[in-house]
Amino acid sequence: MLHFIILITCFTSLATAKRPHIIFILADDLGFNDVGFHGSGQIPTPNIDALAYSGLILNNYYVNPICTPSRSALMTGKYPIHTGMQHGVLYGAEPSGLPLCEKLLPQYLQELGYVNHIVGKWHLGSWKKVYTPLYRGFVSHLGYWTGHQDYYDHTAMEAGSWGLDMRKNMSVAYELHGEYSTDIFTKESVRLIKNHDPSSPLFLYLAHVAVHSGNPYEPLRAPDEEIAGFGFIENYERRKFAAMLSKLDESVGQVVKALGDKGMLENSIIVFSTDNGGAAAGFNLNAASNYPLRGVKNTYWEGGVKGAGLIWSPLIQKPFRVSRQMMHIADWLPTLLEAAGADTTNLTHIDGLSIWKALSENSESPREEILHNIDDILGISSITVNNWKLIQGTTYKGAWDNWYGPSGRWYQYNISSVENGPVGVQLKKINKFVDGKVIKTLRAEATIQCGDGPKIHCNPLKTPCFYNILKDPCELKSVAKEYPLVLKELQVRIQQFNATAVPPIKKPVDPKGDPKNWNRVYTNFGDFENPNLIVL
Ligand SMILES: *[C@@H]1O[C@H](CO)[C@@H](O)[C@H](O)[C@H]1NC(C)=O
Ligand SMILES: *[C@@H]1O[C@H](CO)[C@@H](O)[C@H](O)[C@H]1NC(C)=O
Ligand SMILES: *[C@@H]1O[C@H](CO)[C@@H](O)[C@H](O)[C@H]1NC(C)=O
Ligand SMILES: *[C@@H]1O[C@H](CO)[C@@H](O)[C@H](O)[C@H]1NC(C)=O
Repeated sequence: MLHFIILITCFTSLATAKRPHIIFILADDLGFNDVGFHGSGQIPTPNIDALAYSGLILNNYYVNPICTPSRSALMTGKYPIHTGMQHGVLYGAEPSGLPLCEKLLPQYLQELGYVNHIVGKWHLGSWKKVYTPLYRGFVSHLGYWTGHQDYYDHTAMEAGSWGLDMRKNMSVAYELHGEYSTDIFTKESVRLIKNHDPSSPLFLYLAHVAVHSGNPYEPLRAPDEEIAGFGFIENYERRKFAAMLSKLDESVGQVVKALGDKGMLENSIIVFSTDNGGAAAGFNLNAASNYPLRGVKNTYWEGGVKGAGLIWSPLIQKPFRVSRQMMHIADWLPTLLEAAGADTTNLTHIDGLSIWKALSENSESPREEILHNIDDILGISSITVNNWKLIQGTTYKGAWDNWYGPSGRWYQYNISSVENGPVGVQLKKINKFVDGKVIKTLRAEATIQCGDGPKIHCNPLKTPCFYNILKDPCELKSVAKEYPLVLKELQVRIQQFNATAVPPIKKPVDPKGDPKNWNRVYTNFGDFENPNLIVL
């Protein structure tokens, strides 16, 4: 017994001496049903799927319904109501940002010796340079500051303005014009991994533009040859979406290969997550799928908040599972810090809980409830407590409260492409891959089946809608009438949260920030006294 204890102690000190590399890949607007491991075979995602099966498929995992709030939760470990980020997204010309008093994930990691890089999207404020990534814990940034960009010209059109939004650190990256965004971000990530000095741990935050729509003049862009490969998808929008997603999956393959080539994979934690639910059926001019879940991005239905996500790491003691541990995107901060060997006992001022032990050992999650958000400007609030979910109010006057396809379940799923794809090959090299039989079982288990029986319609603009989300993951039958007391409890819980909320930081856009004043570029306009002359 004594022997045993000594062994454990030695192992622990060794483990803390060599902290794991953390690669966090955030997809944008990816739907629950866009990954192959949730049951659709329409768009192959063999690299993402390979990580999922040989790590943990997070099937009780929630994100915020929209970009900026979700990313703020990831970076701070706090619910958006506690940072003022609860209402909508930030615009490039908006004189506002994630409050500077907040300590961000890379800043915590920096204290543990991590070298932090961000590649891709920021979206947490840029009107003054102090709000941008290099001033908030990252040592490099190749990417953009606003919510989206065109995949080739890298401009963003939003809130009545239009400008270039691509940076290499603080410099405007004019020279990247014409190169496909996903390729740019992949190349930079691979370069960072190749050049990384493995004596320090790496934190790579790869926040892709994919699969967000670009600008209205051509929202869904991918290389022609990639689109041509999806001719079997009749719906042209979905076909182009498939090509965008396929490039994202290819990126995951290249990043994992780079980690393998560098010998870093065995001491890495890789997270893949969406930031919010998919923009389906033409929402945001996009073609994602959350089937069979209800709603889309920026709704509080499961389709808006139940996130496609996975974690992969050799440090996970019980991998190859569909995880039912309840988790929220705010939990990544303490979870990753604990996995990195940090002392997390002082992290009591945040909402996130460390799920690391529960995930790794398949024990009970410390999380029992998730506040999906309270947005008093939109008049909407929602919470899940254990199996119960309450929704009060809705967005878009209810126009996006339905169920959207495609299911994609009728397509043949190619297990061999998962086994033999770039990620499969890397994982086999280090003996961390599962066989085809296990893949089949896990995939079936991760595929959501709606309950049956009649729908009981509920309009959350008129009355609270209330679901047993375990039995009714598709939100078909409101049981508000059957369980008035539990419903009341959840309403009280929302009020308790509401009493701790801070006002939204959201501000109207400042005409001074319009790119037309700044050589057609989105800038940190708040740092300059007078707008430049309009350059045409
Ligand atoms: C950003 O700056 C860092 C530090 O000077 C440098 O190593 C890195 O290459 C720069 N990144 C880009 C994309 O220019
Ligand atoms: C945690 O907080 C206590 C009390 O403020 C402090 O003494 C201790 O150093 C802190 N620990 C860490 C790891 O920050
Ligand atoms: C499945 O993927 C493999 C590549 O690993 C390919 O060779 C094979 O043709 C695919 N099978 C089908 C039925 O598409
Ligand atoms: C939250 O509190 C504010 C201020 O008291 C109030 O106006 C708002 O209606 C409350 N929201 C909810 C969902 O209870």
